[in-house]
Amino acid sequence: MKISIIGTGYVGLITGACLADLGNSVVCVDVIEDKVKSINSAVPPIHEEGLLELLKKNVGKNLSASTDAKNAVKNSNITFIAVGTPSRDDGSIDLKYVEESAKSIGKALKEKNNYHVVVVKSTVIPGTTDSVVIPILEEFSGKVAGKDFGVCMNPEFLREGKAIHDFMNPDRIVIGEYDKKSGDKIYKLYKNFNCPIMRTSLRAAEMIKYAANAFLATKISFINEIANICEKVGVDVCDIAKGVGLDHRISPMFLNAGVGFGGSCFPKDVRALISEASEENYNTILLNAVLNLNEKQKMRVVEIADNIMDLSDKNITVLGLAFKEGTDDIRDAPPIPTIENLLRRGAKVSVYDPEAMENAKGIFGNKVKYCKNIESALKDADLCIIMTEWDEFKEIYDKFKLMKNSIVVDGRRILDPIKAEKYGIKYYGIGYHKNQIR
Ligand code: UGA
Repeated sequence: MKISIIGTGYVGLITGACLADLGNSVVCVDVIEDKVKSINSAVPPIHEEGLLELLKKNVGKNLSASTDAKNAVKNSNITFIAVGTPSRDDGSIDLKYVEESAKSIGKALKEKNNYHVVVVKSTVIPGTTDSVVIPILEEFSGKVAGKDFGVCMNPEFLREGKAIHDFMNPDRIVIGEYDKKSGDKIYKLYKNFNCPIMRTSLRAAEMIKYAANAFLATKISFINEIANICEKVGVDVCDIAKGVGLDHRISPMFLNAGVGFGGSCFPKDVRALISEASEENYNTILLNAVLNLNEKQKMRVVEIADNIMDLSDKNITVLGLAFKEGTDDIRDAPPIPTIENLLRRGAKVSVYDPEAMENAKGIFGNKVKYCKNIESALKDADLCIIMTEWDEFKEIYDKFKLMKNSIVVDGRRILDPIKAEKYGIKYYGIGYHKNQIR
């Protein structure tokens, strides 16, 4: 099929690259010329596993990028809207990019005669596709949804860092459809995927996305609360998560306790759902608690460190700046407020992250020391805090001897406390009690 995609962020670019790899002809559209140039030269504008290979394989054949939305829409049969929906200060989402995309698609549809389906992939509050997107499309095209063009809402469930894997191996595909004809067209695009394909209303598809992210965020705050109790009662949260996760109704996924969730999705989406519910006069007791606990959790490692030593003037190493492993993304990343807190306490902070150093420079400027590797970050440090679950931090037991004191606060529970002790490391961790009560 011929596809155009508006927006070349994580979602748009991964969707475009994967759909091209599956044999469709895809044009990715963005207003930022540098991104367009980068994609057309098969250079990924973001760090994402497998993206370089996909671009190399498909650019110049059935994948290209352009700043010309009108032509891209006119020369395709399906257009995905995959632009950002950033948070406003009150937590609600800002739809300006979705609205702008709908306008330019509408203008292109005006000059088009054959049937076209517009698919909203951006995460939008229930009701947005039918009450915002469709009216704009109709106004600017002079055409009628359902009669002259189709509309679907197709949420994404891609994890950053694993987005290509997730796209190619989905647990499910959700197609919210304005009418059967629109849904049939998108169903055809996905019919060869080996997973359930759920067809539903536009609003239900929009809500499924929010409910999925809110549930996963809740699961993380739940295990973090359990971790905090574990520290008090003398057990290890990793054992507890294992025992609980063996119940197939619960599953072990997303039961990793730590410094809390970050990124461009969970915090923003939970805030948006709370804001929407409050507009409807509903008080979200559980979701408020999920966010509150998450905010406190980001400081848990500082509390632990503070109990170990007076942090002022100490050399503190922070390993990990990205909001999770496999990405250079530091949006809403827990290490940011943690480092700010350490600096406020007068600590001297050295940082290292395999991918996110450049992004962090934009936030911390010269307030922290940027180290080129783990060794130089650890050298002569009084204490090390692990903030991101990078694989390369998992087997560094012997490197802690470079520190002045081998004291480690494991904010992600990626080290084995018993092994750490064998290496002479004084180990502290979220949800870990030093003297486990047997
Ligand atoms: C999340 C969802 O997992 C995707 O399904 C969804 O499509 C995406 O948001 C989105 O809405 O676009 P992502 O934010 O990329 O994906 O990352 P996750 O792997 O879900 O991790 C989110 C945060 O939770 C990270 O900070 C991670 O470190 C943390 N986390 C995750 C934990 O603290 N514990 C866990 O057990 C799992």
